[in-house]
Amino acid sequence: MASRLRLGINIDHVATVRNARGGSHPDPLRAARIAADAGADGITAHLREDRRHIRDGDIGRLVEEIALPLNFEMAATEEMVAIALRHRPHAACIVPEKRTEVTTEGGLDVIGGREHLVPVIRRLADAGIRVSLFVDPEPAQLDAAIAVGAPVVELHTGAYCEAAGTEREHELERIRRAAAHAAAIGLECHAGHGLAYDSVGPVAAIPSLVELNIGHFLVGEAIFVGLEAAIRQMRRLMDEARSGAAG
Ligand code: PXP
Repeated sequence: MASRLRLGINIDHVATVRNARGGSHPDPLRAARIAADAGADGITAHLREDRRHIRDGDIGRLVEEIALPLNFEMAATEEMVAIALRHRPHAACIVPEKRTEVTTEGGLDVIGGREHLVPVIRRLADAGIRVSLFVDPEPAQLDAAIAVGAPVVELHTGAYCEAAGTEREHELERIRRAAAHAAAIGLECHAGHGLAYDSVGPVAAIPSLVELNIGHFLVGEAIFVGLEAAIRQMRRLMDEARSGAAG
C-alpha cells in the first residue's frame, strides 16, 4: 500500500487577515492548533522580507508553543538564515522571493544560484535543520539540488493548478516525471502551491511524493466551513487518491 502522504498546513493567510487590521486576531497559532487537531502533520509559514503576513514573533511562538514540526519558508538571505539559526525549526524550505510578487511565482534557480546556495544550505543543515528547495518540476533543477547538498525538494504545483484541460494534464505529467526523477536520485520529494480540492487528487496519487504543503485555498474555504472541516476534507481527498494509487 502506498504510504500515508504528510500534510503541511500553510498558515500565512490567517496572518494576512490579522494584519489587515493590525491587531492580533485571527491568531495564526490558533490556526496551527486547529490544524493539529484536524490531522495535519506539520505547519508551514513564510516569513517574507516585507512581513506582509507572518511576522518575526509568530515564528518564535510557532517553534515554542506548537507541537507539530515547523517548516520555515525563507529566502536565502543573511537575515532569514540568522532567524532560522536562532529558532531552529524542524525544516527550512528555500524559496525565491521578489518584493513585488503577490505570491511565490516560480521555483528557485538552483543551477544559477549554486554558489550562493551551498553555504546557506550547509549552515542550516549544520544546525540540524532539514533543508528543502522549492523548484519547478524540471529534472535539471533536481540534479542541481543534489549537487548543492539539499536532501529534500518541493515541486512547484502552481502551473498545474492554474492550467486547464490538456495543458493541466501536461503540467501534471511534468510533476509526475520530476517526482520519479527525484526519488531515483535520492531526494525526498514534496509538492505544493495553489492546491485545492479539484487539483489535489492526481498530485496526491503520485507514489514518490512524501508531503504536500497547502495554505491559501484552505484558509479561504475556512471562511465558509471552518478551518478544521476544510483540512479534514483535504486530508480525505489525499487519502482517497493515495489508496487508489496503491491498487
Ligand atoms: N509551498 C511553498 C514553497 C510556498 O511558497 C507556498 C505558498 O506560500 C505553498 C507551498 C502553499 O501554497 P498555497 O498557499 O497556494 O497553498
